[in-house]
Amino acid sequence: QIDEAEVVAFSVPSYACLRRTTLDNHNPVLTDALSLLAENAELSDEDGRGVAFRRAAAVLKALPEPVTGVTQLRGLPCLGGHSLRVIRDILENGASSEVEFTKQSERFKALKVLTDIFGVGAKTAERWIRDGIHSLHQLQESGQTLNRAQQAGLEHYDDLKQPVTKAEADAIGEIVEEAVVSVLPGAQITLIGGFRRGKLTGHDVDFLITHPEEGREVGLMPKVVSWLESQGFLLYQKTTRNSYLEAKDGPARPASNMDRFERCFSIFKLADAEKRGTKQTENTPEDTCRLAAHSQVTDEGPKPASGHRRWRAVRVDLVVSPISQFAFALLGWTGSKLFERELRRWAGHEKAMSLSSHALYDNKQGRYLKATSEEEIFTYLGLEYIPPSERNA
Ligand code: CTP
Ligand code: MN
Ligand code: MN
Ligand code: MN
Repeated sequence: QIDEAEVVAFSVPSYACLRRTTLDNHNPVLTDALSLLAENAELSDEDGRGVAFRRAAAVLKALPEPVTGVTQLRGLPCLGGHSLRVIRDILENGASSEVEFTKQSERFKALKVLTDIFGVGAKTAERWIRDGIHSLHQLQESGQTLNRAQQAGLEHYDDLKQPVTKAEADAIGEIVEEAVVSVLPGAQITLIGGFRRGKLTGHDVDFLITHPEEGREVGLMPKVVSWLESQGFLLYQKTTRNSYLEAKDGPARPASNMDRFERCFSIFKLADAEKRGTKQTENTPEDTCRLAAHSQVTDEGPKPASGHRRWRAVRVDLVVSPISQFAFALLGWTGSKLFERELRRWAGHEKAMSLSSHALYDNKQGRYLKATSEEEIFTYLGLEYIPPSERNA
């Protein structure tokens, strides 16, 4: 019998941008369970449910110690009946039947495997599943037409599933830096995304590129990409040009969280640690041979002994921003995704402002608010500054 008075009750603000969420998660079993249900909802075109589970998981990530009983959760925000049921199940029975059922379901497993291919989203995976495709092998046998991104994704499937380490992120940072200053002296790169929040691994590496003189960054991305390509660093790239200035649609639109920066989604060819520093060379015939033999997908048996790996494929995102929008881009691309979503919700609902990765618009004053640092943006929003390491909602 637990004395109610001895049970620690938690208190947590309802907006994630009012909380400090470090990577020190005291409830990983509960948050993993809720995140899995969020992922399943997102893959099933149920975004509303997805966000609800993400918010519930984020509240638990912010707790200072492990939850031992549901009475502790009384009064906490964002915990709906469904999430509470899952939490109760785990606390009382050690597992949630819904989570276990989802994990085992053929549909979820197929959606996961297929959307784990770079370039494949939920819509495409759904269509393939309806055609009876549940595995990579079935996909390859099916004769489905794959676009360039999906072909690259399939080819580098095993590599891209491996988490990227901080050391690999730093090595790629050095390469990108060399590329950027070679084509535009004075240009600067900043590590963004999960690694800026202090994560030790990631699914990719994200960089923001700018130049201290407004306008000098125009046309930079194609030059950076050409440089990287000429040095043999890119296995795949798709560059999207800046559409912010062309699209004269006024203030940031809360309806869309896609921004309009010039960006590049790429797959890097990163040399193994012991080979880094020596100049990257063209594919050797041995590499090409290994590449063809590589991958469980083709079921071709063990790799030849001579085909030792000398490099791996790594997903890299590059974004270019003019210096006048840099602080907004930095804030918008550091994440986490839920933290970003909550910042925009706070801005819109509590401050009558529209926040994007480009700008902050004050609807009451009818003007844009300029900022040169993240701190300034938090101040405009009436928020205490939360450093990147505490944005892991
Ligand atoms: N982002 C974005 N538009 C996209 C993709 C990402 O604005 N089309 C932003 C996200 O909001 C996030 C940041 O870019 O703030 C990084 O996204 P991503 O690399 O997907 O996530 P990470 O937090 O870096 O996590 P991971 O370690 O898994 O890469
Ligand atoms: Mn702690
Ligand atoms: Mn990332
Ligand atoms: Mn990314």
